[in-house]
Amino acid sequence: MKEHLELPPMMGARGEIALPGSKSISNRVLLLAALSEGKTEIRDLLDSDDTERMLDALRILGVKIEFIEKNACIVEGISGDFPEKQAELFLGNAGTAFRPLTAALAFSGGHYVLSGVQRMHERPIGDLVEALRQAGAEISYRGNEGYPPLEIFPAKTGTSDSISVKGNVSSQFLTGLLMALPLLGRNMEVMVEGELISKPYIGITLSMMERFGVKVGREGWEKFFISADSRYSSPGIIHVEGDASSASYFLAAGAIGGGPVRVYGVGKSSIQGDAKFPEYLERMGAKIEMGENWIEASAPEGGLDAIDIDCNEIPDAAMTLAVAALFAKGKTTLRNIASWRVKETDRIAAMAKELSKFGAIVEEGEDFIAVTPPSSPISLHGSIDTYDDHRMAMCFSLASFGTRIRINDPSCVAKTFPEYFERFLEVAKPVPVISIDGPSASGKGTVAAIVAQRLNYNYLDSGALYRITALAAMKAGISLEDGTSIADLMSKAPVRFEGGKIFLETADITEEIRSEACSSGASKVAALPEVRQALLDSQKRFRKSPGLVADGRDMGSTVFPDSQLKIYLTASAEERAMRRYKQLIAKGEDVRIDVLLQDIRARDERDSKRSAAPLQKCDDATLIDTTEMGIEEAVSRVLELYRKASSGKTSRFDQPTPDLRDI
Ligand code: DC
Repeated sequence: MKEHLELPPMMGARGEIALPGSKSISNRVLLLAALSEGKTEIRDLLDSDDTERMLDALRILGVKIEFIEKNACIVEGISGDFPEKQAELFLGNAGTAFRPLTAALAFSGGHYVLSGVQRMHERPIGDLVEALRQAGAEISYRGNEGYPPLEIFPAKTGTSDSISVKGNVSSQFLTGLLMALPLLGRNMEVMVEGELISKPYIGITLSMMERFGVKVGREGWEKFFISADSRYSSPGIIHVEGDASSASYFLAAGAIGGGPVRVYGVGKSSIQGDAKFPEYLERMGAKIEMGENWIEASAPEGGLDAIDIDCNEIPDAAMTLAVAALFAKGKTTLRNIASWRVKETDRIAAMAKELSKFGAIVEEGEDFIAVTPPSSPISLHGSIDTYDDHRMAMCFSLASFGTRIRINDPSCVAKTFPEYFERFLEVAKPVPVISIDGPSASGKGTVAAIVAQRLNYNYLDSGALYRITALAAMKAGISLEDGTSIADLMSKAPVRFEGGKIFLETADITEEIRSEACSSGASKVAALPEVRQALLDSQKRFRKSPGLVADGRDMGSTVFPDSQLKIYLTASAEERAMRRYKQLIAKGEDVRIDVLLQDIRARDERDSKRSAAPLQKCDDATLIDTTEMGIEEAVSRVLELYRKASSGKTSRFDQPTPDLRDI
C-alpha cells in the first residue's frame, strides 16, 4: 500500500465528475431493503469500505445479496426477521452500519456481538443503547461502559411504548431507532432530548423509510411516531443519489481553482443535507449553478471571502470549508460543529493541527474552529497526516491549489470514495512543466531558457544546482565523494536566484559555477544518490504558476515525471565538442578540440552510466537531434510540440491553445 501521495501545485480546476453513490443513503437503503418484504434492486450503490461492512454483516445475518453490476445489486428482503440468530459482526469504523444494525438487531430475537476497529470502540453509543433498553432491548457492553463492542440478547417484551433519545451527540442514534422501531409492531413514540443536531440526516432517514413503505409521523424535530401496522416493503428499484459530501471537494476545487467544475448525481432535488454545501460556498463568493441532477461551481473574481457561519446542518462538508479557508481573505469561523469531536477522529483537533502546517492561524474551541490563512502564499511544512479519516485526506487535497503537498496514508479515502484522487486529478490541473533533458552542450540550456521566456514560464537550470553544490562543497573543504556531508551542507546552503544571478550567501557565483572545476565537480557530486535526493525538493519548488521549463538530465524521468511535455535534446559528440570549442575560442581560451571531445565523451559516460537517475531518454519523451539544427529551429520544434500537446480535448495544459504567432 502506498504510504503517501504527492500532489503537484495546481493552477486551475475545470471539468465534470460523476459522483459515487451517497454513503448515508447506500447503507440505509441496504438495511431497509434487507428488512423489507420482497426483492429490491439497488442501483448506483456506493462501493466503499463502509458499504462493504454493511454488506458483509447482512450476508452473515442470512440476507441474500446478488451483485448484477459493480454498483448494482438485488437484495432479497427477510420481512423483518433475520434468519441467523447467532452472529459476531465486525463493522470496522462504519458508524452508518454500527448504529442502525445495533438498533435492528436489538429487536430480532437473537444473540449477537458487534465490534469494530479501535476508533469505533472510542465512539460513544451509550445514548442509543439507553434508548433501546427503554423499548425492552437487552444489550451489554463488552468493553467500556457506553462504548462498543456490544453484546445483544433477545429483547424483553411489553415494555414502554414511549422512549426518549439524546439528539445532541450523533443523529445516527435517532436514525437507528427510527429504522428499527417498525420491527416491534407496536405504536411507538420517540422523544428527542436536547437540540437535535445534523437534522438533514434525519431527513434522509425519514425519506428512505417512506420509500420502503413506512411513514413516520412527527411534531417538529422533537417527537416522532411509528404506528403498529408499519411494515417495510420493497419499492422495486431504487437509485442511490450521488454523495453530496463527496461533491463538496470538487465544488470547492471549482471555487478555488477557477472552474467551472460540475458534479453529476446531486442537484436541486437532493434529499441530502450536504447538498446545501453550495449555499455556503456561495456565501464565500463562489458562483454556483444548479440543475435537477447537477451542481456547478466557479471562482469569484478576486478570490473567496471569509465567512462566520453555523455549520450544524452540514457537519461533514463543513470540513471542506475549513480547508477552503486557506484561500479566503480574512478569518473564517465554522460554528456548532461539536460532533466533529466524535467522528472518525477528533476532527476539530486534527483539522487545527494540519491547517497550522500551512502557516494558518487556527483557533479551536469545543464546538468551533476559526482559520486565518497566512499573508503570503501557503506552503506546507512537513506532510499532511490523515488520522485514518477519509475526509481529512479528501479535503486537504484542495491545499494543492496553493502549493505542492504530501498526504500520508491516502488510501484511507477507501472508506467512502476509493477512487477519489484519480477523480480529483481529472479536474485539478497541475502547473505545467516542459522538461528538456539531454547531454552536455546539446544546446538544451539555451533552448530551454528561450522557450521559458517566450511562454512567460519560470525556468529551472538544474545543472546549475549541481554546479553550485560542487562549488559549495569545495569552498567548505568537503570531499566530492562524501555524499552525506554534501547533502547536509546543501540542506542549509543559503542559495538565492535573483534577477538572473545566483548568490551563495552574499557572493555572486553566477560566473564562477561555469568554470571547468565546477563542471567536473558537478558531474562527480551528481553521481551521489544522497546529493540527488537532497536537491529534489529545491528543484520541485521551481514549479510555479504559470508554468516551468526545466532543463537537466532527469527532469522527465525523476524530478517531474508528470511533465506535460518531455523533450530529449541531443547532438553528436563531435558537434557538441565543436560548439564548445567555438565558445571557448571566442572567449580567448586556448583549447584543443580533441581534448574537448574526450572530455564530453567522459562526461556522457559518467552521466549515463551512474546508477542514481542516469541520463536517459524516457519512453514518453520526444527526441530532437540538433546536430544539424540551429537554436531557433530547435526552439520552434519545442514550441510546436507544446502547441500540439496543449490543443484538443486531451490537452495536458490548463490553458487555451497558444497561438504560435503570439509567442
Ligand atoms: O547541464 P550542466 O552541464 O550545467 O550540468 C552540470 C552537471 O550536473 C553535469 O555533469 C550533469 C549533472 N546534472 C545532473 O546530473 N542532473 C541534472 N538534472 C542536471 C545536471
